[in-house]
This record gives sequence, structure tokens and C-alpha cells, in this order.
Amino acid sequence: MREIENKEEMRELIGEWRRAGDDVALVPTMGNLHVGHLHLINVAREHADRVVVSIFVNPTQFGEDEDYEKYPRTIEKDKLQLKRVKTDALFMPDVETIYPFGTDSATSVTVPVLTEEFCGSFRPGHFDGVTTVVSRLFSLVQPEVAVFGEKDFQQLLIVKRLVEDLSLPIKVISAETQREKDGLAISSRNQYLSEEERKKAPELYSVLQSMRSEILNDADHFGELEKNAVFDLERIGFAPEYVSIRKADDLGEPEPGERRLVILAAVYLGETRLIDNVTINL
Ligand code: PAJ
Repeated sequence: MREIENKEEMRELIGEWRRAGDDVALVPTMGNLHVGHLHLINVAREHADRVVVSIFVNPTQFGEDEDYEKYPRTIEKDKLQLKRVKTDALFMPDVETIYPFGTDSATSVTVPVLTEEFCGSFRPGHFDGVTTVVSRLFSLVQPEVAVFGEKDFQQLLIVKRLVEDLSLPIKVISAETQREKDGLAISSRNQYLSEEERKKAPELYSVLQSMRSEILNDADHFGELEKNAVFDLERIGFAPEYVSIRKADDLGEPEPGERRLVILAAVYLGETRLIDNVTINL
């Protein structure tokens, strides 16, 4: 695995691969790699000859009182994890490489509408940070394929829209959410949970699954299902930000008869923010 920090070296390597006729998949991450990330890398491998994993804790997607400083940085452990799956290159740029004019003067990329609700409304500016950094990673690596997790469902749709709207020649592939045995979606932030919180955390997925079963059994009073879910989550000890049933294609309000749905949720458990979702094909 090549370890690369600067953009010239990245470009050179990509150029070599291109000349050899290989295509390239990019898996963008913020590091602290876990089974969810490794799954993305395996999916990337199925779609391209070469896989580049980027690790960059992106300052512009964290709010002022969020966890940018304390976000777990575990680069040596990450490298060991990457040896378990086949990665051709690890790209780990520093902030100056990604934002040569500084973060305050950076050219910003915004996807309107899709970014305004859900995580976008609770974390103002977050998705602008994501689309801005993803655009930069795309232009530095110029991949044919990019892989994103369904775990961050709204992020996935936003990146797909960015690529489609700007006609970028990149195929965005989604990879299924990887879970612990008890159903908790794997996340770098799970390690912030206390022992007691960790025991409760899988109940978020249980609540979403019960909603899913009700919808599969023809329940169509979505507003009521959402309210009941919030009530159940609060009773368990979560502080929900939102639980919402939407169209899986564009997060719009579902019309009667809509066949592809997603239930999105974000909750606090103590100090830790957890997100999860389930999709439904009727
Ligand atoms: P990060 O949280 O490190 O996640 C990197 C990728 O891994 C994202 O596409 C995310 O959806 C996926 N992922 C995380 N947990 C997963 C799980 N349990 N199962 C499947 N996929 C999972 O998301 C980001 O970083 C950043 O916003 C980034 C896109 C890198 C831009 O900075």
C-alpha cells in the first residue's frame, strides 16, 4: 500500500495507473477505521482495478461546539486495518493540502434543498463542509468510482446529487450499513458511549425496524408512526432530534402509494449523537 500525503505524488500515481489502463475507486473517510469502512473498501474493489482510501478529518464539516478536536485520530491502527483488505493507496493529506487558501477563504460547494432538513438543520453548515471536501478529494484523485455508506443516507443522496448536477464523470456506489451483532450501526462515535448507554443504543435500530414492519403491514399513518417512535425513543432514554419517513429517492414527503421509502433518525444518547436509517421497498 502506497502512503501518500501530497497532491503531486497522488496525481503521479493516478497517472501511472491510467496509463496502464486501470480505473480507480475512491473511498473517502475521516479515519478511525472500522468494519463499516472496510466493507466500503471491499465494495470499491468489486468496481475498480485500484482502490484509494482517503483519511482526512475535515474541519469545515464540524460545527463550533462539535467534536473536531476530540475526533479519534488513530492513523497507525488504521494502517493495520487497511492491510486486512486490499488497498492500493492511502491518501492522508493535511489541512493545508486540502485548503491551500485556508478554510475561511476556501471555495465552497453547496447542494441546496437536500441539505436543508434533518442533519442539515441540526448541524448548520455541515453538509457544505462535506460537499466542499468531497469535491476537493474528487478533483485531487479523479476517481471513476466513489463509494459511500448508506449509514449516512442523507450524505449519500447529497453526494449523488452533487455528481449528477455537475456532470462529474464519477459513478457513486452505495454500500450497506454494517452493524454490531445487536443491531447498532457501527460508528466511530460509538466509543463515546458509556457502558450503560452502549446497552441502550441498539434500541434505536429496533424502533426503526418496528416502524418498518408496520409500514410493510400496510400502516400509512406516517405522522402518527413518527410521533409514536419519538415517544418510544424518549421513554428508553434517547433525546431524538428527528424521526422521519420520507421518499428514499429525494427525501421528499411521500405521496400515497410511494414504493421506496426511508426512515431517517438522529438521537442523542447522553452526549453522543447517533444516526441511523432503514429503507423500505413496498
Ligand atoms: P466517515 O464518518 O469516516 O465515513 C466514511 C464513509 O464510511 C461514509 O461513506 C460513511 O457512510 C461510511 N460508513 C460509516 N459507518 C458505516 C457503517 N456502519 N456501515 C457502512 N458504511 C459506513 O462520512 C464521512 O466520514 C465524511 O463525511 C466524509 C464523506 C469522509 C467527508 O469528510
